[in-house]
Amino acid sequence: MNRAKHIAIVMDGNGRWAELQGKKRVKGHEAGAKVVKKVTTYCANHEDIERLTLYAFSTENWKRPRLEVEFLMKLLEKYLRNELPTYLENNIRFEPIGDIRAFSKSLQRTIKDVKEKTAHCDGLVQSLALNYGAHDEILRAINKIKTSSENITEAMLSNALDCKHNVDLLIRTGGDHRLSNFLLWQSAYAELFFCDTLWPDFETKDLEQIIKKFTKIERRFGGLK
Ligand code: IPE
Ligand code: IPE
Ligand code: MG
Repeated sequence: MNRAKHIAIVMDGNGRWAELQGKKRVKGHEAGAKVVKKVTTYCANHEDIERLTLYAFSTENWKRPRLEVEFLMKLLEKYLRNELPTYLENNIRFEPIGDIRAFSKSLQRTIKDVKEKTAHCDGLVQSLALNYGAHDEILRAINKIKTSSENITEAMLSNALDCKHNVDLLIRTGGDHRLSNFLLWQSAYAELFFCDTLWPDFETKDLEQIIKKFTKIERRFGGLK
């Protein structure tokens, strides 16, 4: 039986969820944040899961209307401030990935603060992908190591990435079947699950069902069974 040690999720469909109810798109992001909390605490209490990486803001999401981007920034700051006790009570370590230098100083401080205050937690690692894009991550990694005169090895590149851990199970909600620049290197052998449920409607029982299917898949990694 496979163990879903590292789960990664493209949390998609917030805007459509809100629009379907005649609400503004940002209401969907608010509802989505509640699901982040539920799914994270579920994973923290699941014995197989060591790492949960959630796509929260991509390097491409800056193309959205200014007001939506600003709302997302405020929501992120509020979430991290409010949920620090949840991280601590559930022994969750917060490890952001992505290039947060593009964010306001205040948001950067909040991100670093939650990271530092949860650094001693040794249960689940929750990574939020913030201003994250796999192309940007890979380029930053290459630029970090290119000064060395040796040939770059797979291990060297992997160690220079923001996320150094292969993904076992990658889920995308919201009905689209694409990766949208998420964890391209780390998902080389991930099992991919796409579901139509919009992120604010996603429930822990949906995750449970996906994990159940995942445990039964024959993962061959190019070999034979
Ligand atoms: C995902 O939901 C959240 C972010 C990208 C921040 P969307 O906002 O992409 O929702 P849809 O896909 O437009 O419904
Ligand atoms: C991917 O969703 C990014 C996040 C969930 C943060 P998008 O809604 O931005 O992706 P596309 O534009 O549909 O590919
Ligand atoms: Mg979307």
